[in-house]
Amino acid sequence: MTVAPTPPQSVTVRAPAKVNLELRVGALRPDGYHDLATVFQAVSLYDEVSVARWNEWQVVPGGAYADRIPTDGGNLAVRAAKLVAEQWDIDDVLSIRIDKDIPVAGGMAGGSADAAAALLACDHLWGLGLERDELAELASVLGSDVPFPLAGGNAMGSGRGEQLAPVLARGTFHWVFAISDTGLSTPEVYRELDRLRAAAGSDPGDPSHTAEVSAELMAALRSGDARALGAALHNDLDEAAFSLRPELRVLRDAGVEFGALGGIVSGSGPTVAFLTESHEASLDLSVSLAASDLCRDIRRAKGPVHGAQVVTGPRAD
Ligand code: C5P
Repeated sequence: MTVAPTPPQSVTVRAPAKVNLELRVGALRPDGYHDLATVFQAVSLYDEVSVARWNEWQVVPGGAYADRIPTDGGNLAVRAAKLVAEQWDIDDVLSIRIDKDIPVAGGMAGGSADAAAALLACDHLWGLGLERDELAELASVLGSDVPFPLAGGNAMGSGRGEQLAPVLARGTFHWVFAISDTGLSTPEVYRELDRLRAAAGSDPGDPSHTAEVSAELMAALRSGDARALGAALHNDLDEAAFSLRPELRVLRDAGVEFGALGGIVSGSGPTVAFLTESHEASLDLSVSLAASDLCRDIRRAKGPVHGAQVVTGPRAD
């Protein structure tokens, strides 16, 4: 006699943070987004999202940044779960526990990682067996940065950042992330870039703002050369983030002075990402940054790492 498999009571998925090794921002589009050319790298800071059937929608916050997790319907993980339920006509109501170790509103796609994790967790909870490209399609509806944490590794992003292509890369890179007290709003940083462009006499919607990833960055990734990658790091949003928070420029300059191979604002900030030569160098830089008192918190991570993965097991709470 064959026994039908019992559906899981809960599913836990772990999803990584990202850093943009290069972020080139093209013209402002009529839909309010900007064309992008970017290279993402997944790094070893993770959020864990657990979904379980419940009698009302709820978010249970946990982890290092628990107090910064929105617990209402606006939470991207809730929106992700509701999107899957709606598409597949599922009546279940879920409790979603988020163990947050990725800085909130820091430019490391923490909210997007939660949404990606929730998509994969719901797929498993409800036994849908979705293909990766079906998940990526749903992810892109939720936000420009949601498809990447599903994929992980290194990837090139185009369109508004949601269209991904794999990137050839070798080696492991050692990062130090300098984290600020208060987050920055992504739309606000893009608006500031448009304002700076307009102030410099160029229409933000002008097609002359093209976005292309540099050959230097791709070569550095292919060869696994940290020094070359450090020199090739580039973020067009740096200046906009520095304009809104001048202290971030001081922080970036200090990290480079302390020996980082390169420093950029991570995504739309305010986290500043520093690439270092080795694990030991990342420890040294962390100590120097901590002594400088220029940032609230310092995290070390390596990249690239895998995308979202089921780590299941019954939920502890
Ligand atoms: O896609 P997501 O919801 O993450 O984007 C948040 C905001 O960031 C957008 O509403 C837009 O203001 C800005 N954005 C942009 N161009 C992109 C991605 C995001 O202007 N390619």
